[in-house]
Amino acid sequence: MAEIKSMAVIGAGAMGSGIAYQAAITGIRAYQIDVIPEQLERAKSYHERTLARGVEKQRMTQGDADAARGRISYHSDMTHAEGADWGVEAASEDVALKKKICAQMRDVLAEGAVMATNTSSIYVTDIATAAGHEADRVVGMHFFNPVPVMKLVEVIKGLATSDETVERTMALAARMDKTPVLANDRPGFVSNRVLMPMINEAFYAWLEGVASPEDIDQIMHLGMAHPMGPLRLADLIGLDVCHNIMMVLHDELGQDKYFPCPLLRQLVTAGRLGEKTGRGVYDYSKK
Ligand code: CAA
Repeated sequence: MAEIKSMAVIGAGAMGSGIAYQAAITGIRAYQIDVIPEQLERAKSYHERTLARGVEKQRMTQGDADAARGRISYHSDMTHAEGADWGVEAASEDVALKKKICAQMRDVLAEGAVMATNTSSIYVTDIATAAGHEADRVVGMHFFNPVPVMKLVEVIKGLATSDETVERTMALAARMDKTPVLANDRPGFVSNRVLMPMINEAFYAWLEGVASPEDIDQIMHLGMAHPMGPLRLADLIGLDVCHNIMMVLHDELGQDKYFPCPLLRQLVTAGRLGEKTGRGVYDYSKK
């Protein structure tokens, strides 16, 4: 198995910028790609901040941080990543967009390169159809937010994904200092099939007045040793993302229990999407 030296990361939001960072600090040349210039700027300053923090906390030397910084470049289109050994798509959860990027990866990346998607709710099997007869090299590589901190990569085997692609993906995730765990291409995979109904239930508990949002979170934080409570976590993930994933579970699994809580729906309708809009369950505007 040839060593992976370079990676195109398409999408420079919270997930894409985290993936590019993780690649760079583990010795992989990362091409960070996004059509929105401000998004690339944000990714760059996130990388600067996180590297500086790594040095301050003695997780890496100044030399390591400088080398990692030198391994990331920022581009508005994928042609700059021509010949890269690997691709990870981390664009927004839009099937048509993800398929378009998948087809571009097939055309631009090196021959034999794996085309990974960081989707959290779309079938990998569906996205892979855009790669035509090369669908065997399309795989799900589901990272978790914040990427540098969370140890897991959920590796998703689509219907056409070859065993060799899965094996290469598991090896690359381990090299990126993550623990890969394999799951099949079913709605929400394992992570969101289990996590999202819990978050949805926390909204019901709030709606029904079982406790305040703060107390619901505190109960789950202290009683269940979750690093943050489910409502605070929903704000971190994005309420729109939580809502969309519940809709996917509901539509694909056909059970009422997956229908998004009306309170979650209402907050999304009001544009209160969590940390990214300054307000979700909690108010972040003064921080
Ligand atoms: N990037 C890099 N490092 C980060 C970071 C980020 N965005 N956010 C936090 N950190 C680091 C901090 O720098 C800090 O490390 P140092 O002090 O050593 O530098 C460490 O993480 C802890 O951070 P804080 O002290 O600020 O706060 P905390 O102790 O409350 O931890 C947290 C924050 C890591 C986010 C923690 O609360 C946590 O693990 N929460 C749960 C996150 C989770 O479940 N994520 C999965 C979401 S689901 C998903 O992503 C997939 C999907 O499909 C929806």
